[in-house]
Amino acid sequence: MDLSTTYLGLKLKSPLMPGASPLANRLDNIRRLEDAGASAIVLHSLFAEQIEGNSIAVSRHIDRWQDTFAEATSFFPQGQDYLLGPDEYLSRISAIKAATSLPVIASLNGTQIGTWVNYAQLMEQAGADAIELNTYFLATRRSESSAAVEQRVIDIARGVRTAVKIPIAVKLSHFYTSIVHLVGELEDVGINGVVLFNRIFQPEIDIETFDVLPRLGLSSPEDVRVRLRALALMRDQVKLSMACSGGVHSAAEVVKALLAGADAIQVVAALLRDGPDRLGTIAEELKVWMAKFEYNSVSEMRGALSLRNCPDPEAYERGNYLRSLQLWRE
Ligand SMILES: Cc1cc2nc3c(=O)[nH]c(=O)nc-3n(C[C@H](O)[C@H](O)[C@H](O)COP(=O)(O)O)c2cc1C
Repeated sequence: MDLSTTYLGLKLKSPLMPGASPLANRLDNIRRLEDAGASAIVLHSLFAEQIEGNSIAVSRHIDRWQDTFAEATSFFPQGQDYLLGPDEYLSRISAIKAATSLPVIASLNGTQIGTWVNYAQLMEQAGADAIELNTYFLATRRSESSAAVEQRVIDIARGVRTAVKIPIAVKLSHFYTSIVHLVGELEDVGINGVVLFNRIFQPEIDIETFDVLPRLGLSSPEDVRVRLRALALMRDQVKLSMACSGGVHSAAEVVKALLAGADAIQVVAALLRDGPDRLGTIAEELKVWMAKFEYNSVSEMRGALSLRNCPDPEAYERGNYLRSLQLWRE
C-alpha cells in the first residue's frame, strides 16, 4: 500500500503528521511520533509578540488605531509563559534535525508585517525544511474591510517569501469571504501550500463571575466538515499543496480529507488525548480502508471527490443547502 505524498514539494512517506502543538516539544514524543509513522514534524508557533516583545507588538496595534489602550499589554502572555524563547526555538529545530530524519516544519505566527518576519531566515538557517506561517487574526473594527484583512495576509506571506528559499505554507482560518480567491493570491506570491484551518479561539463567559475565559476545547470529528468543503472546492482551482488540520480523529476523517483533495493531514487533538502512538493506529486503519475499496495509493484517492467534475459548484452548494433543509424530518 503506497501512502506516499508530496507536500510543499517535500516527498513524504505518508500524509500523516502531527500539527502545530506542544506535541513536538519533547524529543521522546518526537521519537514516538516517528515510530508511529509521522512523515514530518510541525513545531508549535513562535509568536511575533515573543520575538519583538509585547510592547512593540502591542504598540503596533495601538498605533494603527490611535488607541490609548494601555491595558492591551496585559492581554498577552509574558516571556516565561511561552513554551520556548526565540533562541531556544531555533536550537530546538537543530536538535530535532539531529535526532530524527524527518523533515521539520517550523511555525511562525503574527498578524502584521514586522521585523519578526526576518525570523523565518533564522529558522531556515537552523535547518527547518519548511515554514508554516500562521496569521491568526480576527477582524474587530468596523472600518477594516475584508479586502484589507486579506491584504495583510498577502503582505505577510510576501515578506516571508522574500526572506527564505524553503517552502512556505500559510495556515488560514475559515473566516474569509472568498477563500479560493485568497488562496489563489497566496499562490501568486509564491506560497507553496495552505493549512486548512486554524481553530479559532472561542471565548466562554462564566455567568457566575462574569469573567470571559480563554478556553481551548479539543476538536471533534465534526470539525473536519468545514475543511472538506474548502479542500474539495479548491483542489482543482489551485496547484499549491493543501493540508487538512482540524477534526481528524480517526482514519475515517483522513479518508474524507484525501478524497476531498488534501495532500497532507495534520492531527493534534487525537494525539494529545490518546498519545503519539495513535498516529500509527490511524495509518493502519487507513490501509484497511484502502484495501477494502481497492485503492493502492493515496495519490489515487486524492481529490476523487473534489468538485472537479461539478459543472457549477455554486449551484451544487446552493442545491445541497436547500436539500438538507427540506429533507430534515423530526
Ligand atoms: C494545545 C494546542 C496548542 C496549539 N498550538 C498551536 C500553535 O502553536 N500554532 C498553530 O498554528 N496551531 C496551534 N494549535 C492548533 C493545531 O495545530 C490545530 O490546527 C488544531 O488543534 C486543529 O486540529 P485538531 O482538530 O487535530 O486538534 C494548537 C492546538 C492545541 C490543541
